[in-house]
Parts: sequence; structure tokens; C-alpha cells
Amino acid sequence: LDDLLGEGVRGRRVLVRADLNVPLSDGQISDDGRIRAVLPTLTALRDGGARVVVCSHLGRPKGAPDPKYSLAPVADRMAQLLGSPVAFATDTVGDSAQQTVGGLGDGELALLENLRFNPGETSKDDAERLAFARQLAAFGEAYVDDAFGAVHRKHASVYDVATLLPHYAGGLVVGEVEVLRRLTSDEVARPYVVVLGGSKVSDKLAVIQALLPKVDKLLIGGGMCFTFLKAQGHGVGASLLEDDMVETCRGLLAQAGDKIVLPVDIVAADKFAADAQTQTVPADSIPEGWLGLDIGPETVAGFADALTGARTVFWNGPMGVFELEPFAAGTRGVAEAITKVDGFTVVGGGDSAAAVRKLGIPEDAFGHISTGGGASLEYLEGKKLPGLEVLES
Ligand code: 3PG
Repeated sequence: LDDLLGEGVRGRRVLVRADLNVPLSDGQISDDGRIRAVLPTLTALRDGGARVVVCSHLGRPKGAPDPKYSLAPVADRMAQLLGSPVAFATDTVGDSAQQTVGGLGDGELALLENLRFNPGETSKDDAERLAFARQLAAFGEAYVDDAFGAVHRKHASVYDVATLLPHYAGGLVVGEVEVLRRLTSDEVARPYVVVLGGSKVSDKLAVIQALLPKVDKLLIGGGMCFTFLKAQGHGVGASLLEDDMVETCRGLLAQAGDKIVLPVDIVAADKFAADAQTQTVPADSIPEGWLGLDIGPETVAGFADALTGARTVFWNGPMGVFELEPFAAGTRGVAEAITKVDGFTVVGGGDSAAAVRKLGIPEDAFGHISTGGGASLEYLEGKKLPGLEVLES
């Protein structure tokens, strides 16, 4: 982006791919972290006099307009945060978009409607994606990718459009990649402790395999811990379980030696609800029919202990169902323990970042909060990310 700004942007149309995929509840934005994260790029372009055309996806609509996934509320919030108007196009590349973009003056911004209302955005067919990318590219003389959360997607607005326009990385993308490089470097400061949660082992398997040889400790909580507990031979009651992953977890435990640390106690509930009956039980004694919805206090203390003295920490995934107050203590406790670490701490992932903000923990208590969930995990897995590769070409 600095290169583009250095060339001068006054009067030039700049297409910015952002990741404005924010959580909505009842049509209201419940966490605007991803909008705030792209503000520096938008402000710099606006103040440089560019005509800024912003595009993003929101959710996973099926290639056709769906009002549930409209970016309209995001345009309003973005305007509020920027302190300047954002013209909203009610389609992505149609009449409304063309008129809105055509009407932009120097230093003005527009947001296009959800990219995924168009089948070409996510198509597996290269020609279909490219055709849609050409329509997008017509809106810009330069392309800036600041959608770190989407760089792992080979989508028209992330990949193909960069092959059609002079392309630049936004400051958010640059900053995120610098952090992830640090986490994967051979010179990473030790002890290096990774905390993983979230519901499924299958989603995290590749990153566990990639990180195990590199880390000193891997602390596992969240719904995924029950498949590991089962692999240790414990009953898990009615807790979340991926039966087909038990054998894989057994293998990982054998390979990891004492690197993997599992919960020793669990907050179990008789149903998945805020008003459930709960009891804290040893991790090997979850009663039949009860489901584990959070890690227990002894586990939090043990994880905090393992984090003491860490020089590098990466955390992805909540420790329990933090959205329901009775099951929030594990995530809160671990988050607070991470804030006390004297080393470099990184929170990765949309859910963990949202958890931090929902629990009211100050964001600056962490070294870095990533805007990318899947993207940061895939980077740590060592995968090539299409949105980054194309920027380097
Ligand atoms: C995310 O939330 O991780 C990004 O916005 C990407 O969304 P997606 O998984 O629907 O592609």
C-alpha cells in the first residue's frame, strides 16, 4: 500500500478487497473488529484523494442475493467509524454498483453488495471466476488486498482480480503475515506454547501436526478435547465427539509425549442451554448423558501454569461455550492467563478474537489479534495461500 500511496492516488479508482465478514445477530453487528482493522487502509486511500471501491463477502450465501447476508449494515458502521459517508451499492457489479462507482469523487468511498451474491465469486470453474473478476476489475485502476481473513480462498475477488490489475498488499495483510512469519520461524522465542480450542479436531488436525514438532507445549480445550479424552480411554458422556478421529488422536498423543496437555476437570451440563444444571467433574468421570461445555477451574490453573514463562503464545479457539455465561469461565481464565504472559502473544481466529472482545478483555493486552481464523491456521500449517501468492507474482 505504501508503494501505491507513493505513486499518488488522487483521482484514481482503487478497488479494495476487505474481509468485512462480521458476526450479525438479528441484523445487528455484534463485533466490528474486522471493520476497524481495515480502517487504516481506507483512511490512507481516502486522505490521499483516491476514489475507493470496497468489496467483501459476508457469510456463505449460495451465489444469489439473500437479504440476510446484505452488507448494508456494514456500510453504515463503516461510515460511522470513518467519520465520512460510504455510498452503498445494492448489487455487486450491476447497475447500482456502476452508478455508485461512477459517481465517486476524489476522497470518496463506496461499498459494493456482498461478493458471494454472485456465483462467479467462489466458482471452481476458472473461466467463470475470471469473468466475474473482470467485472470487478473494471471498477479499479489498482487493486489492494487487505482481506487477510480470506487470503486462503481462491476466489475471484481474492485471486483472479489481482491477475488483472496492478496489485498491492494492504497494511493489515502485511502486518498479519509478519506476525505469522515470526510464529513459524526457526528462531521463535521459547518456550513456545500453543493453546487450541474450538469444536472439531478435524478442523485443527493439520495445524496440530504442523505445530507439534515446533512447540514446547500444546494445551487443548474446547469441544475438541473430548475426542482426545476418549482416545485416552475415558468416557465423555454426551459431549461433542468425533468418533472417526479417536484413533488419530491416540496417535498424536503417542507422538507428542508430554507436549500435549489435556483438561483434568470439565464443567458438565445436563443440556446445551444457559439455564442447564451444571457440575464440575474430573475429566475422566463425565456422567452418562451429560455434556462437557467448558474446561474446569483446575484445568484453567494448570494451563495458566504452563503459560507462565512462555516467550511466545498462539491461541486459537474458545475453551468452552463462552457465549453462554455458565460456560465462559474457561475461555476467560485462559485469555486472562495469556494477557499476563511477558512474551509475544497472538490470538488467532474470528471466534477467539470475538471472545476476547465479548469478555471485555482489552485488546491491547495481547501482542496481536489476528483477523483471520482459517487463513492464519492454514498459514501455520505451511500451506500456500492463493491470495498471498498472487500478490507476490
Ligand atoms: C472467515 O471468517 O474466516 C473469513 O471471512 C472467510 O470466510 P469463509 O470461511 O466463509 O471463506
